[in-house]
Amino acid sequence: MHAALFSFFVAVFFSVFARAAPVTTQPVELLVFSPTITSPTAGIVWITNTKANVTWLTSNIPAEKQNTTGLLLLGYEANDSENLDIYHPLASQFPLAQGWVEFTVPSNLTYKNNYIVVLFGDSGNASPQFTITPNNATQS
Ligand SMILES: *[C@@H]1O[C@H](CO)[C@@H](O)[C@H](O)[C@H]1NC(C)=O
Ligand SMILES: *[C@@H]1O[C@H](CO)[C@@H](O)[C@H](O)[C@H]1NC(C)=O
Ligand SMILES: *[C@@H]1O[C@H](CO)[C@@H](O)[C@H](O)[C@H]1NC(C)=O
Ligand SMILES: *[C@@H]1O[C@H](CO)[C@@H](O)[C@H](O)[C@H]1NC(C)=O
Ligand SMILES: *[C@@H]1O[C@H](CO)[C@@H](O)[C@H](O)[C@H]1NC(C)=O
Repeated sequence: MHAALFSFFVAVFFSVFARAAPVTTQPVELLVFSPTITSPTAGIVWITNTKANVTWLTSNIPAEKQNTTGLLLLGYEANDSENLDIYHPLASQFPLAQGWVEFTVPSNLTYKNNYIVVLFGDSGNASPQFTITPNNATQS
């Protein structure tokens, strides 16, 4: 009974403290926005040299970040690494407030079922793993 009462007060203390802390101690400029990707979802298949979309949530963009532009990188998960191709972004300088970006899947990608995309605002969020497969019909 006492233990339960004690943990109740601890829980109340921390829930109040946790809610108050970001507001009172964190300067607005330090709020980091990392967009949550809603597509591609796990198991989606993209075909090289065709158009694809990446979409993300915009409901959680802070007001002062409404004009932030995004950077979209392709990678693949292997050996506990995201192996991001930082030299060939899929898209860049697009408005994050739009919630989606369309681009052409590069024609020279090889088949993998462990591709990911990472979408950067201030910080990056990775998608689940998905597949890219060559467009066999247009290969010589
Ligand atoms: C990407 O999304 C836009 C906006 O919804 C849509 O107009 C376009 O057709 C989509 N492209 C693909 C490849 O799905
Ligand atoms: C975003 O851009 C618009 C148009 O340039 C501008 O009016 C607005 O103040 C900007 N918002 C922020 C938060 O920088
Ligand atoms: C993963 O690590 C193994 C062993 O070091 C290596 O042979 C393999 O090429 C690595 N794979 C990738 C995709 O980097
Ligand atoms: C695809 O082509 C670009 C040049 O257009 C090259 O820099 C890149 O390394 C190629 N990617 C792969 C996976 O071969
Ligand atoms: C291309 O060929 C590979 C190997 O046969 C196959 O796994 C893949 O699904 C094919 N891609 C398309 C778009 O049909």
